[in-house]
Amino acid sequence: MALLPILRYPDPRLQKKAAPISTVDASIRKLAADMAETMYAAPGIGLAATQVDRHIRLVIIDVTENKSKLQVFINPEIINKSGDCESEEGCLSVPGIYESVTRAEEVTVKALDLDGQAFELTADGLLAVCIQHEIDHLNGKVFVNYLSRLKQQRIKEKLIKQARENL
Ligand code: NI
Repeated sequence: MALLPILRYPDPRLQKKAAPISTVDASIRKLAADMAETMYAAPGIGLAATQVDRHIRLVIIDVTENKSKLQVFINPEIINKSGDCESEEGCLSVPGIYESVTRAEEVTVKALDLDGQAFELTADGLLAVCIQHEIDHLNGKVFVNYLSRLKQQRIKEKLIKQARENL
């Protein structure tokens, strides 16, 4: 396994739309394992392939406190959603920034697992937020895109300054 570099907002590669995965093979399983290691090391609760500069529709999530339930979603698609809930979000690609975002309260997602088998899952709470956040990444969207232009501009400037100081 290997740790992968995570793209940082406002890197334009975070805006790329990811392509569907046609075959779930060993290379996909290897990428998912490397992404899991990267996410746990960060530490984070979700990671989309887009964030490690691989523009294919693969997302991993583990919202447990003891890293005990890794969930892999290949070609995820939200097929049902209901309700509204507002919660504070962060992102490994936007380090140190936490902002409130409104999303659906409950979602049903359809995806493939690492064996290429289709499954459906209905989630609420943190898992529902995380699924929506990660699928947004596959569509080239970062959570700060839900904020006002002024706020986005401030975050952009802050992160660019941070990156410069860390050189
Ligand atoms: Ni994110």
